[in-house]
Amino acid sequence: MSDVLNEAARRRTFAIISHPDAGKTTLTEKFLLYGGALAVEAGSVKGKGGRRSATSDWMAMEQQRGISITSTVLQFNYRNCVVNLLDTPGHRDFSEDTYRVLAGCDGAIMVLDAAKGIEPQTLKLFEVCRDRGLPLLSFVNKWDRPAREPLEVLDDIESQLGLIPTPVTWPVGADTDFRGVIDRRDGSYTRYTRTTGGARVAPEEDVDPARAEELDGMLWQQATEELGLLDEVGSEFDVETFLAGITTPTLFGSAMTNFGVRKLLDAVIDLVPSPRPRVTADGGARQLEAPLSGFVFKVQANTDKAHRDRVAYVRICSGRFERGDVAIHARTGKPFATKYAHTAFGSDRETVEEAYPGDVVGLVNATDLRVGDTLYIDEPVEFPSIPAFAPEHFRVARPADVSRFKQFRRGINQLDEEGVVQVLRDIDLGDQAPTLAAVGPMQFDVAKWRLEQEFGAPTLLESTPYQVARRTDAESALPLRQMSGVTVLERSDGVLLALFESPYWLDRVIADQPELTLEKLLAEGALRER
Ligand code: G4P
Repeated sequence: MSDVLNEAARRRTFAIISHPDAGKTTLTEKFLLYGGALAVEAGSVKGKGGRRSATSDWMAMEQQRGISITSTVLQFNYRNCVVNLLDTPGHRDFSEDTYRVLAGCDGAIMVLDAAKGIEPQTLKLFEVCRDRGLPLLSFVNKWDRPAREPLEVLDDIESQLGLIPTPVTWPVGADTDFRGVIDRRDGSYTRYTRTTGGARVAPEEDVDPARAEELDGMLWQQATEELGLLDEVGSEFDVETFLAGITTPTLFGSAMTNFGVRKLLDAVIDLVPSPRPRVTADGGARQLEAPLSGFVFKVQANTDKAHRDRVAYVRICSGRFERGDVAIHARTGKPFATKYAHTAFGSDRETVEEAYPGDVVGLVNATDLRVGDTLYIDEPVEFPSIPAFAPEHFRVARPADVSRFKQFRRGINQLDEEGVVQVLRDIDLGDQAPTLAAVGPMQFDVAKWRLEQEFGAPTLLESTPYQVARRTDAESALPLRQMSGVTVLERSDGVLLALFESPYWLDRVIADQPELTLEKLLAEGALRER
C-alpha cells in the first residue's frame, strides 16, 4: 500500500452533534483525555460563564452566551489512528454551519440526553444529518442521572428519526446505580469506578457473569433480560446499513463520570470509516492516491485579533499535502500558495507540514476561498458545492453611520463569504441596504456583533414582512415582482430567491400560477417548532 493509502486508513474524521446541554463539550473533553491530548484536567474545552478557560471557543460572544458558534478542529492520536474531531455549534440556529462541517466528515456521533431523548428543537437538525447519509453513532449520555428506560430511548430514535438503533453496549443500572456496560459484541461486562469530578480516566474492570451476578445482582439480571429481548428482535450491528446511514450503533454512558467513554472512542476507531474516494461534481470519484485535492467547508475571519486574517478550513480528499504546495483554486483557476497552513486546536495554531486524506488544514490569508471551493494539484477536479439552506428569517441591514459605509460593505461581503448569513440584494438597491437572510435569528446577532466589533460598522437591522423563500428564475421573477406580498432578491451565488410574506400566500401563488418556478430549498421548515 502506498503511504497515502496507509495514512488515509489511519484517519477517523467525525463530528459530534447534539442538542445544547446534552454533553457535547464534556464528551469532547473526555475524548481528549482518553486520547492523551489533554494534559491538564478535564474542564478546559469550553468557557461557560467564564468559569473555565477556553480552548475551543474563542469568540467573545460565544463566551458571553456560553454556546459554541464557531467550529474548530481537534486532532489527536488514539490507538494507531489519527482522530480528527470537527466541532459543530450546538444551537439549532447554526445548523447550516453544522451541515457544512458534516460535509467534511466521514461519520458523526449524535449525543442524546438520557432523560430527554430526542428533543423537538433538535429533531430537524438530526434529520438533516441523517439525510446526508452519514454513518451515525448514537451515544446516550448522562446515564449517571435519572434516565428513561433504555428500550424507550431506542424506540425514540427509531420512531422519531427513522434510524434503526443497533445497541453496541447496554447499561447495567442507571442513575447513582450505574455500574457499567455490557458489550453486546462479545458479551463482556466492563464495570467502572468513579473518580472525583471525572477528571481522570475512570478505572475499569472486566467482570465475568458469575462475579457480575454477585456484585450487581438485580441490576445485572435486569440488563441481561433486556439483552435477551434485544437478541430476539435482532438489532445486531450491521456494517452495510450503518455505512448507508440506515442503522445507528448505539452506546450508553456518562461523559461526566467517563463511564463508557473509552468504548465510544473505540467504536469511532472500529466503526467510523476511514476516508473513501470522494464523489466529484461530474459524478466520478477522486481516488485517495490521486494528486492532492480538498475542499473548503468553513471560512472564518478574524479569529486572531492580533493578525487580521481569514482562515479557510480545507478537508483533504486525496494525495499528500505538504506545506508550501501550490494548489489550483478550481473556481478561479488561480494558483494558491499554502505557505501559511496550520492545524487548529481551538485558538492555538500549529504549523502543519503535511496532511493526508481526512485531515483538515487551516489555510491562512485565504482571501479568495469560499465555502465549497475546491483546491487541487495536477489533475483537475471539482467537488460538489455544499447546498445552502432555506432561509426563514430576513432583515434589511443599513449602516448606522453612513460615513462607515465602506466598512459596512466590506463586513457584509466578508460575512457573506463565510456563510454567517446569506446576503440578498435588490437589483435596484444594490449594496445600499442588503437583506440578510438566516436560518435562525441568532445568526443576525453574530452578524451585527461582528460588523461592529471587527469592521467598525455599527449596523441597523430592520425587520421585514417576509417569512419564506423559494428559488425562482429570471422569467418568473418578472411577474413575481409585480405581486404584492412578494419580492425577488438575488443571492451572491447568483440564485434568485422569491420571498413571500407568509407560507399561505406562497401556497396561493402556486395554486393560481402553477407555471411559475418556485422550487423548494434545502431543509425548508427545518427549524420551525414542531
Ligand atoms: P453541550 O456542549 O452539549 O452544550 O453540553 P456540556 O458538555 O456543556 O454539558 C452540559 C451540562 O451537562 C454540564 O453541566 C455538564 O457538566 C453536564 N453533563 C455533561 N455530561 C454529563 C453526564 O454524563 N452526566 C451528568 N450528570 N452531567 C453531564 P453544567 O451544570 O452546565 O456545567 P458544569 O457546572 O457541570 O460544568
